[in-house]
Amino acid sequence: MKGILYGVGVGPGDPELLTIKAVKVIKKADVVVAPKTEKKDISSALSIAKPYIKKSTEIIELTFPMLLNKEKISAAWEDNKRIIVNLLRQEKRVVFVTLGDPMLYSTFIYVQRLVAEYGYPIKVIPGITSFSAIGSRLNYPLAEGSDTLCIVPATIDEKKLDELLSTSNNLVLLKVYKNFNKIVKKLNKYQLINNAVMVTKCGLEGERIITDLKNKGSEEVNYLSTIIVRRYTKDKIIT
Ligand SMILES: C[S@@+](CC[C@H](N)C(=O)[O-])C[C@H]1O[C@@H](n2cnc3c(N)ncnc32)[C@H](O)[C@@H]1O
Repeated sequence: MKGILYGVGVGPGDPELLTIKAVKVIKKADVVVAPKTEKKDISSALSIAKPYIKKSTEIIELTFPMLLNKEKISAAWEDNKRIIVNLLRQEKRVVFVTLGDPMLYSTFIYVQRLVAEYGYPIKVIPGITSFSAIGSRLNYPLAEGSDTLCIVPATIDEKKLDELLSTSNNLVLLKVYKNFNKIVKKLNKYQLINNAVMVTKCGLEGERIITDLKNKGSEEVNYLSTIIVRRYTKDKIIT
């Protein structure tokens, strides 16, 4: 049998929010590869997948440094690619687990690009995104009728952020941890602050729901934090 690479979305946190397909693929894995940041002891995606990984399955955690220049892959990425390709050469079923959905702002997107040239089959199993889980957690609709919904990495440049905040009906702001105070100022400026809510670690231990963003204070914002905003809403956030 030829080696095969799966990109499996494990959802945002709750270990019951994986698809049946994701669980089946994880259970049949020879090797589970999990992306890890330099700061963390254990990969979040791995903790979520853990209950479904067989004892005999090898687990490899790999650190993928942030890609500053998306054209130029660093030595660490080259090493990681080599490790994955070697496993595929050994005809292994390699399952790369990723938070939320693998096709949305995920390390797997770059991994699949790097591995594609070696000709091994690559299959993607979708996952529940962070913002889908947050909308449901709060009974707060993301969009309805003719609403537009804009998914924004809050790290984009200021001008673009202004443009989106002033035009889109509803927004999902990901990666808000870096410039949280600036985002709050902008939500105030566009009179969106009262319809904005931030959820940190949705479905995970330590989950927090912050509806009063104006008065959140200056404590550090966790990486796993997302803000959802609606310009007009009749709905109450249910915490
Ligand atoms: C690199 S993106 C990954 C998005 C992911 N692939 C998805 O489908 O949601 C990382 C961002 O996703 C959001 N995120 C992921 N998991 C989350 C969670 N459990 N609670 C809140 N936000 C989360 C945060 O905004 C975080 O900065």
